[in-house]
Amino acid sequence: MIDFAGLRDNLKLRARADAAWRKVVPRPQQVHISITDRCNLSCEHCDIWMKPVPGEVPIERWKEVVDECREWLGPFTLKIVGGEPLLKEGVVELIAHAKERGCRVGLSTNAIPLSNPDRAQEMVDTGLDEIHISLESFTPDHHDQIRKRAGAHARTVKAIGELTRRRTHLQVSLATVVCQQNLDELLKMVDFVRDHGLYTVNYQPLYANFGRPFDPRWYETSPYFPRDVDKLDAVLDRLVEIRTAEWLVGNTVNQLQMMKVYFRNPNADDQVVCKAGDDDIAFDPYGNLKMCFWLDPVGNIRDEQPKAAYWSEEARERRREVRSCTRNCNLLNCNFDRERFGEALWTRLGIGAARG
Ligand SMILES: C[S@@+](CC[C@H](N)C(=O)[O-])C[C@H]1O[C@@H](n2cnc3c(N)ncnc32)[C@H](O)[C@@H]1O
Ligand code: SF4
Ligand code: SF4
Repeated sequence: MIDFAGLRDNLKLRARADAAWRKVVPRPQQVHISITDRCNLSCEHCDIWMKPVPGEVPIERWKEVVDECREWLGPFTLKIVGGEPLLKEGVVELIAHAKERGCRVGLSTNAIPLSNPDRAQEMVDTGLDEIHISLESFTPDHHDQIRKRAGAHARTVKAIGELTRRRTHLQVSLATVVCQQNLDELLKMVDFVRDHGLYTVNYQPLYANFGRPFDPRWYETSPYFPRDVDKLDAVLDRLVEIRTAEWLVGNTVNQLQMMKVYFRNPNADDQVVCKAGDDDIAFDPYGNLKMCFWLDPVGNIRDEQPKAAYWSEEARERRREVRSCTRNCNLLNCNFDRERFGEALWTRLGIGAARG
């Protein structure tokens, strides 16, 4: 039985403490750059690859943006995403540039190009801190079916091997979308992480397709939306236990618990305040500064510096929109519940672990 009221109280309490924390820590703390919409796959649950691609910002300008953010924010966390970021010419130089300036750098990728040993070595040599590799299933056919490319599974798994056998400080994690097709395999992903010496697996709740206009009833027709919610509850309960015992699961306990609510009704009012545009900002491949993927941009780094765009009147207005937004994509990993104080501390104080 899920204690929804307790869970919400817990999250509200944390939101108040986080608001106090924000007053003393410079923000944003995390900068996402989506450097291309191009992709080498055409996954069924993602429309980003369908978008037109003229006018991407060149890597030289992104290096300047890193410098401008470094001057504004001090050392910050840079997350490089896409499309498939490894298709962008110069991505390796951008990562190395950010590392030289003291940033923590993460990359989200399907990793297929890193199945080439030379490219894997080149990536490791940049000093990249964390890499999140999408793997939907152990069963090659299941993965390839979701990712719409025969052989995708084999190349991604080969890339994981190329990275881990080099035994560097790079944290290699899996990113796995929770969907109907992999319900029976979600727990086994933890075994994969343990057996291959990876860092964590981060489960991403399936959401409406990125890159198409939002339809609030999207899940009713989605072939990927999990229908077997009782089975999913049992999996999520087990993941909570694993998270608490071993930390091989990257999601917080609260996020895993909220997924139970979400998958029963993706439009439920979860009362979780979205952090987009406050702690996190995002640039699209064309230089637009966005508070979140879905809302209109507030400026463009072709015309102004990130700091000016972040503090503009338009950005303040957009932050008001974020605070009143009732959508549930705040459950996605990039927006949910990052642990400023560390989940262990919250748990020790008796307010971090979900009750239920
Ligand atoms: C948009 S991709 C970009 C990076 C890279 N191309 C990849 O696939 O890892 C980042 C992550 O978002 C996930 N994703 C894509 N569409 C999604 C959706 N509709 N709901 C939830 N996650 C989604 C992908 O599976 C991937 O783990
Ligand atoms: S999820 Fe990643 S690999 Fe798949 S189409 Fe979207 S951007 Fe490409
Ligand atoms: S919950 Fe609203 S503000 Fe937050 S990421 Fe989703 S659409 Fe954007």
